[in-house]
Formats: sequence, C-alpha cells, structure tokens
Amino acid sequence: MAADSQHFWGPDYDALKAVDPEIAQVVDDELTRLRGGLQLIASENLTSPAVLAALGSTLSNKYAEGYPGRRYYGGCEVVDQAELIGVERAKKLFGAEHANLQPHSGANANLAVYAAFCQPGDKVLAMSLPHGGHLTHGAKVSFSGKWFEPVPYTVREDDGLIDYDQVRDLALEHRPKMIVAGATAYPRLIDFEKFRAIADEVGAILWVDAAHFIGLVAGQAIPSPVPHADVVTFTTHKVLRGPRGGMLVSRAEHAKALDKAVFPFLQGGPLMHAVAAKATALAEAATPDYQAYARQVIANAQALTSALETQGMRAISGGTDTHLALLDLQPLGVTGKEAEARSGLAGITLNKNAIPYDPQPPMTASGIRVGSPSITTQGMTEAEMGDVARLIATAVTADESTDVGQKTLGEVREEVGTLVSRFPAYAR
Ligand SMILES: Cc1ncc(COP(=O)(O)O)c(C=O)c1O
Repeated sequence: MAADSQHFWGPDYDALKAVDPEIAQVVDDELTRLRGGLQLIASENLTSPAVLAALGSTLSNKYAEGYPGRRYYGGCEVVDQAELIGVERAKKLFGAEHANLQPHSGANANLAVYAAFCQPGDKVLAMSLPHGGHLTHGAKVSFSGKWFEPVPYTVREDDGLIDYDQVRDLALEHRPKMIVAGATAYPRLIDFEKFRAIADEVGAILWVDAAHFIGLVAGQAIPSPVPHADVVTFTTHKVLRGPRGGMLVSRAEHAKALDKAVFPFLQGGPLMHAVAAKATALAEAATPDYQAYARQVIANAQALTSALETQGMRAISGGTDTHLALLDLQPLGVTGKEAEARSGLAGITLNKNAIPYDPQPPMTASGIRVGSPSITTQGMTEAEMGDVARLIATAVTADESTDVGQKTLGEVREEVGTLVSRFPAYAR
C-alpha cells in the first residue's frame, strides 16, 4: 500500500477547528505555552512531528486485543506489523530478549510487573517516595502500597546517595519477593550490578523502573540496566522522546507471565496508534543524532546544576549524572511551592519536589526538580545554562505579592521570551 503524503490521513488542524473550535483553541494555546516558556519538567520532552503523525493516525481505530498473530479481532494483519516492528526495534535497541509495547502508561507497566511476580501481601523492597521513589513503588495511596507490603530504602542524609549496605541489610532482614531499582527524583547513576547481587542473595526478582533515564540508555550515554534486571519498565515520553505511554523489556523466561499480566489481566485493547508511535520513537532513538542528543541532555543538566549552585541552591547529591537535578532551596529561604508558583509567573515551568529528609510537607516541599530533555531538544547547549540558572534564581526569589517582585517576574518573563525565541519549539 502506498505510504505517500497523499495517502496519509493524519492530523488535520483545520478539521478540528471547524468541528470543535473550543478544543482547537486549547491545542493552539498549549503550543503557544510550549513555545513561549522554558520547559524544565524533568519527565517531559517535545516529541517529534513523525511521532505525532503516527499518534494522530487511523491506527487509533483498531481493536487488537491480544498479541500479533493471536488477536481476538479480525482485521489486525496491518496493525500487527506496527507491533512486530516495534518489538523488534525495542529488543535490538536495548539488547533485550523480550519486549512488550502495550502498557498504556508507566504505572500500567509497573502494575503488570507486580501482577506477573507477586501475590497480594508480598514484600517489595523499593526506594521510599520522599527520597525519590515513585508512587507505584509502595506508596500507601497507590495499589502498590495497598495490596503489597512495601519495605522502603532511603538515601543517605549526608550525601543523598543510595546506601547499598542498607538495601542489602533490609533485603536480608525482610526477604522481599521483589527489589526495585529506579526512581523519579534521583539524579545519580544506579549501580545495577550491586542490586543484582543483593537480589540473587535473597532470591528476589530484580525490577528496574527506568522511566526517567531509559532515553539516556537508548542513546548509550549511561550504562544499561537490561543485562542485570529480570524486567525493566519505562515510560516512552520522557528523555526517550516518544509518545505518552509505557513499555517493558525482560528476560525471555518472564515473557509469558508479563505478557499475560499486561493483557488480559490489566488492560483491554492496546492503543495501536501509540504502539506505532513508540516504534517510531525507537527508530529515532537508534540514530547517531539521538545519541548526541542524549549526551547533550546530560551535559546541559550538569552545567545547569553547577550554575544553580552558584546561584545559592544546594544540589542534592552534589550534582547529577543524568538529565535531572534536585535542588534544595532552603539556603535561599524559599519553599518549593513558592518557587514553582513564581517560576510559572515568569514563564519557567518546573516542579516543586520533596528533598530527602525534607522538613516541609510534600505539598510545600523544600526543593525543586529541574530537567534538561525539552530545552536540549530545542537546541540549547551549555552556553545557555548560565542564563537559564540566573533566570530561575531571579524568579524563585521574587516575592510576587510585592510590586518589586511583580516587576522582577515581568522582566524575567520577557528575558525568557527572548531566550526561547532563539530556540523555538516546533519551529516551522
Ligand atoms: C520512575 C517512574 N515510574 C513510573 C512512572 C509512571 O508513569 P505514568 O505517569 O506514565 O503512569 C513515572 C512517572 O513519572 C516515573 O517517574
């Protein structure tokens, strides 16, 4: 079948505008927001037009419960190809024996891991939420903390690093069914070999939740967890720069249990447009351009972190090896909540974040988390990071309840506008 642009029936903004001007306006406003500010949320990125085209395709229509060649619906022979291509690309890119592209989200991929390996009440050793772990790693408000028994490990107070001796001691004491490595706000590399050794010592499954850093692995900028883990789950929309969604790769011996956990245990029909877009993102991530991007993401995060330290913030763990940094704002006398709100007024999007041993409640928090994936996609390099840090520091210390603060935030907003106009998101 021809795959030329005449044949493609994809995103049609004019049709959206004609049928639903209200939503068209929202779509328009979001692009204006993206283009007009600094996007520093560590878990976001600006996915490519190719990925957006696959996402906006007619593959969205197809019901395809099951797996390629074993579907519960007819007419799947075409979408089967998208999934087969994607699975092969994932296996090749990550050197994995098995891949499943169907999880609708990172949380779903994680739920599938629990479903494949654990029974309700089983113990799971994972990083505590206030120390950087994810909700699905045993938080009481999530299924993971309600249906399973979390055993949390922490980072050290003095250097903010994982204490592998503590992880081992807890593993030996509690004999968990599963051990989780991976986090949502941990700026350093994780020693997967050490985690593997601990898991082997107690006969536990080693699950790596690589949602944040898998893009850096794909780009060969940091070591891979794949050779060490039983299963690696991740989101596809962070550094990896694919569509919003989840994915997992694993050892062949776990393929059946994981596939059955994804479908039919916890999901119905896969989102075939998203599966296709994941495949496209994997093709992009296998290129030398993407590898250069992944290295630049880290270089930018490191330059930004040092510059923020110069501005008086304290970098948790003293820096970063990845795409994100966690900054303690206590030396500036500012809370994370204040910083997030003030930055927002200045056109800088970042998030408040609890820091390890935080004296503030989570909704106030003493820190912020910043990440470099989006600004690196826009083409910024170390040369811009000093300015970015200065703009952040000026914004977070400007009291918006005063006239002086308002004026300062307005000035920062203007300077942010000038800076991002040199690196436009989705430039034509
Ligand atoms: C480490 C980690 N795991 C899982 C998830 C969940 O992903 P999703 O929001 O797609 O469910 C996140 C999201 O930020 C994450 O950081």
